[in-house]
Amino acid sequence: MSLPQSIRNRLKLPAIAAPMFLVSGPELVIATCKSGVIGSFPAMNARTSAEFADWMKQIEAATGPETAPYAVNFPLSRMKGGGLDAYLEICRDYKTPIIITSVGSPKAIVPIVHDWGGLVFHDVTTVHHAKKAADAGADGLILVCAGAGGHGGAATPFALVEQVRSFFDGTIIVAGAISTGRAIRAAEILGADLAYLGTRFIATTEAMAEDAYKDMILSEETSDIVYTNAISGLPANFMRSSLETVGLDADNLPEPHGPFQPNLPGGITAWKSVWSAGQGVGLIDHSPTTAELVDQLISEYQAARETL
Ligand SMILES: Cc1cc2nc3c(=O)[nH]c(=O)nc-3n(C[C@H](O)[C@H](O)[C@H](O)COP(=O)(O)O)c2cc1C
Repeated sequence: MSLPQSIRNRLKLPAIAAPMFLVSGPELVIATCKSGVIGSFPAMNARTSAEFADWMKQIEAATGPETAPYAVNFPLSRMKGGGLDAYLEICRDYKTPIIITSVGSPKAIVPIVHDWGGLVFHDVTTVHHAKKAADAGADGLILVCAGAGGHGGAATPFALVEQVRSFFDGTIIVAGAISTGRAIRAAEILGADLAYLGTRFIATTEAMAEDAYKDMILSEETSDIVYTNAISGLPANFMRSSLETVGLDADNLPEPHGPFQPNLPGGITAWKSVWSAGQGVGLIDHSPTTAELVDQLISEYQAARETL
C-alpha cells in the first residue's frame, strides 16, 4: 500500500472530497482541508486564469501543514489550447501538493508536477486505462467505479481494486457511491489507500450548487440515478428528476452525435441544467456544513474500525 506518509499524517480520514464541475470552489476546498480531508476543485470552475489565481491565493492562505492538503483537477484533453499551461504555472508557483488529471494521458504533465514536488493522481474506469496511466508515471490511480457521480465507470470496485493492486504500488483511490465512514473503511479493507467522495459533498453548505440541486440530492433515491451517454456524450450518472425538469424523457433519451457531442434540445446542458449525482444519493438526507459532515464520517469510520 502506498500513500506518502507526509500526506497521511495530515489527514483525519483517508479520503478526498472529489472535484466537481460547478460545485467545488474555494469555500468547499478550504472547509474540507480544515476538517482533515483532502479538498479539491476542477480548475475550469474558475472562468479565467485570473479568477483561478485568486482562488489559489485564498486556498493557499487558509491551508498548510496543519490542514489536509488540497488538489487541483485538470481534464487534460479538454483544456488543451484552453489555458492549461497558464493554470499549471500558477500551480507551480504554489507547489500545489496534488494534481488530479482526467480525460487524456497524464504522461506530459507528470514530469512538470514532479519537478515542483507534487503528486499526480489520474482518473480511470478500467484495468486497461489503469495500466496505461501507471506506465505514464501517475503516482495515484483513481478507480472511478459503478454508481459514481459524473462520468462513473461500469466496473465494481470488487473487480478493479485487487486487479490494479496486483501491478501498481502507488496510491489507489476508489470512487463510486461512497457516502459513509463505514464505506470509507470498506474501501481500505478492499485495498485502497483513499476513498473519493463527490456526491456526498454536493449538499454541504459550502458547495456552490444551487439550493434546488441540493434539495434534489436529498429527495432522489438510488433507483432515480440514470446512467446515460445522452447528456454529456459519455456515460455519466444524472438525477431522473433533473432530466424531467428540463423536459427530457429519462427512458427515451436522444443518441449523442459522439464523445462529448450530445444531441440535446437548445439550452439543455450537462452539469448546468441537468444535474449529476451518484447512486449514493439514497444515503443522503441532510445538508450539513462540511465540518459537520466530516465529523460524522470520522465517527462512522472509527466505529467501523473497531469491528472491521
Ligand atoms: C456534479 C459532479 C461534477 C463532477 N465534475 C467532475 C470534474 O469536473 N472533474 C472530474 O475529474 N470529476 C468530476 N466528477 C466526478 C467526481 O470527481 C467523482 O469521481 C465522483 O463524484 C465520485 O463518485 P460519487 O459522486 O458517487 O461519490 C463530478 C461528479 C459530480 C457528481
